[in-house]
Amino acid sequence: MAQYRADPSPLKVDLGVGVFRDLSGNTPVLACVRRAEQAVLAQQTTKSYVAAAGREEFNSAVEQLVLGSAHAARRDGRARTVQTPGGCGALRVGAELIRAAARATTVHVSDPTWGNHVPLLGSSGLALESYPYYDSASHRLLFDAMLERLERAAPGDVVLVHGCCHNPSGADLDMAQWRALSQLLTRRRLVPFLDLAYQGFGEDLEADAAGVRLVAEQAPEALIAVSFSKNLGLYRERVGALIAIGENPSRADAISSHVLQIARSIYSMPPDHGAAIAAHVLTDAALRSGWIEELDGMRSRIFAMRALLAQALRSKSGGDGFDFIGTQRGMFSLLGVSPQVVDRLRDRHHVFMLQDSRINLAGIMPHNADYVAAAIAGELG
Ligand SMILES: Cc1ncc(COP(=O)(O)O)c(C=O)c1O
Repeated sequence: MAQYRADPSPLKVDLGVGVFRDLSGNTPVLACVRRAEQAVLAQQTTKSYVAAAGREEFNSAVEQLVLGSAHAARRDGRARTVQTPGGCGALRVGAELIRAAARATTVHVSDPTWGNHVPLLGSSGLALESYPYYDSASHRLLFDAMLERLERAAPGDVVLVHGCCHNPSGADLDMAQWRALSQLLTRRRLVPFLDLAYQGFGEDLEADAAGVRLVAEQAPEALIAVSFSKNLGLYRERVGALIAIGENPSRADAISSHVLQIARSIYSMPPDHGAAIAAHVLTDAALRSGWIEELDGMRSRIFAMRALLAQALRSKSGGDGFDFIGTQRGMFSLLGVSPQVVDRLRDRHHVFMLQDSRINLAGIMPHNADYVAAAIAGELG
């Protein structure tokens, strides 16, 4: 980010940043958020402390959004939801919970995974191992290798799975693969830790949660980290939740009281403002339908830019080697080029991306797609 800011070239393109951008290059405040925020401010009568669990109406709306209204874990009273400071807060509290439950637990994360997973989970003292997930050279999921590796994990180990819009690869499991994974996790007594940070960015709110719902229905116990940074654009307000599913209601209560104890010991209570806004949007019918429209708009823009860049790369490179960009999901894809090519794209063409060649499609605009494609094709050619 610093290098991008320091580059004086008018040609520069930022594909490195991790946030959504509209066609003007802004990360907008959603209209539904503005309206909810005004209502929150008008209704607020105190700034007194909230509980460690945060807002009750937020927690129940999130649980319903993520699990759906008819989910077995909710029906059986086995789900407990706690508001957290963003998805990162949920991941960190979840990691502390796992460590408190069994000190020697290993958490298995996908190779590749979001860079912050390692410090967020590892700093609690848990051992991390990776399972094969995606080959960035051939642009393919390594599903068989993933299952084969997890088959050898020790019972009680935790498996972190991206709920949708895998970061950084953009490659998601289909429902048949979710079913196979879910069966393996249950049969091998592995504990799923599902990270849902992009619900609504892949297909829609329901479809994007389908894999998470399935796993959370079959596994006796599961954790789900939820983030509203991207889908409500609430990044700096730090809005997230940890959903814990226990084997039975009394175990769910025990897990929940443990989670609250951990939250108190780290940050005492979550920030209120963003969660008050999110709760308003989720529970007010008009705001919620406005949100769904805005979410559709963000998703369509990313898909349009995927198609545009894939097409431009096809024409500049004269081959179909980058068609995968057009079909992957969420904001990110891995170009699958070497760090040397990443450096040359930056130094010679002012095109910035992460060192592993992760690009954010929300950095592509109609006016820069051809330029970016020509730079990539030129460096590879
Ligand atoms: C895979 C993944 N998980 C979790 C998060 C958590 O985000 P936040 O803490 O901003 O809610 C992100 C954000 O980029 C992410 O990409």
